[in-house]
Parts: sequence; structure tokens; C-alpha cells
Amino acid sequence: MKQIITLVSILAVFFALSYCTDRNDKAATTQNEKVELTDQELIEKGKYLVMISGCHDCHSPKRMTENGILEIIEETALSGFQEGSEMMKPNKGALKDNWVLMHPDLTQYAGPWGVSFAANITSDATGIGTWTEEQFMRAMKQGKYKGLENSRMLLPPMPWFNFVNAKDEDLKAMFRYLKSTKPVRNLVPPPIPPDEM
Ligand code: HEC
Repeated sequence: MKQIITLVSILAVFFALSYCTDRNDKAATTQNEKVELTDQELIEKGKYLVMISGCHDCHSPKRMTENGILEIIEETALSGFQEGSEMMKPNKGALKDNWVLMHPDLTQYAGPWGVSFAANITSDATGIGTWTEEQFMRAMKQGKYKGLENSRMLLPPMPWFNFVNAKDEDLKAMFRYLKSTKPVRNLVPPPIPPDEM
């Protein structure tokens, strides 16, 4: 009888232990599990992130609708300030009073840094078409022009500092999406320094 009780106790402890380990293992797998996205899913994720983090606000040319609401022009989405289009003349008086000025479609800006133009970030060679993923990460996390190590800092209002702590996997998805966009040929003019505007 004593032996049976001992055996039952041993079995009880064994099952209890294996149940706990099993549960821990499961919790661990759920936490560490990296879900491998297919290329299409990665592009979708990137598209979503680009949309909700406001890249279109500045990088997509827009038209004003009748009720005064800006609408993105699909054909030139994400291609930045349009080459050859009319530039706004910065109002010197307003700048002296420390105003920062914006083009009505939000792709050109003037402030103490001079005049800046939203970049072409479509997959064309005049955009980010020839960029490596590393260049994109450096532009977004360190604010470097063209994502090159020794290049100048990106000018306002590019909000690159918001992405310093962004997860690499999110930025990679954004880059994958941008690389998949329709290439729009558009050579954005270079910035104008403050003493020349
Ligand atoms: C508030 C306006 C604004 C928003 C929002 C914005 N950008 Fe920009 N971005 C700019 C401007 C202006 C420039 C050009 C800066 C310069 O010439 O130095 C720029 C430059 C860039 C560049 C560098 C291009 C180059 O040739 O070096 C990249 C890459 C970029 N933006 C990606 C993005 C992405 C991705 C998003 C969304 C997460 C985004 N930007 C959101 C205004 C903006």
C-alpha cells in the first residue's frame, strides 16, 4: 500500500512538473516567435506604415478640392516637389518675423534654414530606386541626405528624428514598400540657402 502511495505521489509530481514546463515552453514560443512575412505581406505592412506615419503629407503633391480639402494626386504620389512647377516666393517680411512658410500643397518650405523641397521617395532612380536598405536606415535614423555617411543633414521639416527608435523591421517594411512603388521620374530641385532665397 505504502509503495502504491509513493508511486502515485511520484507520478503526480512528474505530471505537475511536465505541465508547468509545457506551459512555459508555449509562452516562450509565443513571445519569441518571429512571424516570417511573405514579400507581399511585407509590402502591405510598409504601405500601411508609410500611410499612418504621414509620409504623404509632405512627399505627395496634392490638389485643392472645391471644399478646400487637399487631395493626393495618385499619379505623382510620393514623388515630392514637382520639377519645373512654380516655386513659391518666400515672403521675406514673414520670415523676418520668424514665420515658417509652406507651399499650398505642402511640398516646399521656407524658414531659417532656407528653402527646402520634399524629396522624391518613389522607386525611380530620381527617387530612392538605387538606394540600399542601409542608406534608407541611415536617412531615417540619422537624418543623413541620401543616407550616405558623410553627407549633409536633412533639412526641416523632414521629421527623421521621430524614427531614431523605430524598429528596424518596420523601417525595412517601409523601404520594401517604397521600392515597390510606381517609379515617378522627378528631379526635385536642390535646397536654396538662406542668403540666396
Ligand atoms: C513634414 C514634412 C515631411 C514628412 C511628414 C516626411 N518628410 Fe521626408 N522629407 C521632407 C523634406 C522637406 C525632405 C528634403 C529634406 C532636404 O532636402 O534636406 C525630406 C527628405 C526625405 C528623405 C531623404 C531623401 C534624400 O534624397 O536624401 C527620405 C528618405 C524621406 N524624406 C522619407 C520620408 C518618409 C519615409 C516619411 C514618412 C515616414 C517622411 N519622409 C515624412 C519632408 C517630410
